[in-house]
Amino acid sequence: MLQTLSPGTVRALKVLVFLLCLVPLAVLVLETFGVGGMALGANPVEELIHRNGKWGLKFLLITLAVTPLRRLTGWNWLIRFRRMLGLFAFFYILLHFLVYAGLDQRFDLAVIFEDIAERPYITIGMTALVLLIPLAVTSTRGMMRRLGRRWQQLHRLVYPIAILGVWHFYWQVKLDTLEALIYAAVLAALLGFRLAHWWRRRAPGRFSLSRSGHDRTAHARRSV
Ligand code: HEM
Repeated sequence: MLQTLSPGTVRALKVLVFLLCLVPLAVLVLETFGVGGMALGANPVEELIHRNGKWGLKFLLITLAVTPLRRLTGWNWLIRFRRMLGLFAFFYILLHFLVYAGLDQRFDLAVIFEDIAERPYITIGMTALVLLIPLAVTSTRGMMRRLGRRWQQLHRLVYPIAILGVWHFYWQVKLDTLEALIYAAVLAALLGFRLAHWWRRRAPGRFSLSRSGHDRTAHARRSV
């Protein structure tokens, strides 16, 4: 039933997903301004850094889950949501950085650069953010067309970025590493799926080579 969706349904779903992706931001804004008794807690800046960081990472993993989910279900229309989800990952990670740089460090560039140079988890986070920028900039249809095959190659950077993101999360945890390890397990499963798919696509040729004891070219030559 969900194998094919009409363009109108996909458009309506896109609007819905877009609004859903804004919910974490809306909650943060309401909490920041104390609307309806909502609050960020004793350390609001730290809370903002943490929540934006976690949403950024969640959206990265959700973006990486699109292709495996599409392959498992045959719902090809899922691919139409990937760009939006990836851009929301970038959006929340950028907010995470801006809260850190603006509210925590008051845009004191000397302190920020010192942090990047001296605190390894910040070095890793910054590397991931810098690598994300070209992906966000080239996410338009025009760029996709202009870059051709190179677009796909460039966007494979999302795998090391996600690894760096989880590593950054794990490294900054002081006591309980369980949550960071759950993110790591989800990422490992998603990367494992990709690897298995890639291996399966390469394997048939190899298997026929090892089982038959002669290569396909030789077989083709004989049958001509
Ligand atoms: C792909 C890029 C990034 C991702 C996915 C990410 C994600 C996260 C996550 C999930 C946390 C932990 C939240 C928690 O414990 O509840 C965190 C903490 C933090 N991140 Fe990032 N981050 C990224 C980049 C950056 C950058 C560029 C900076 C600053 C230059 C930064 C600075 C921090 C700081 C200061 C903390 C809090 C550490 C603490 O409380 O001691 N992150 N980040």
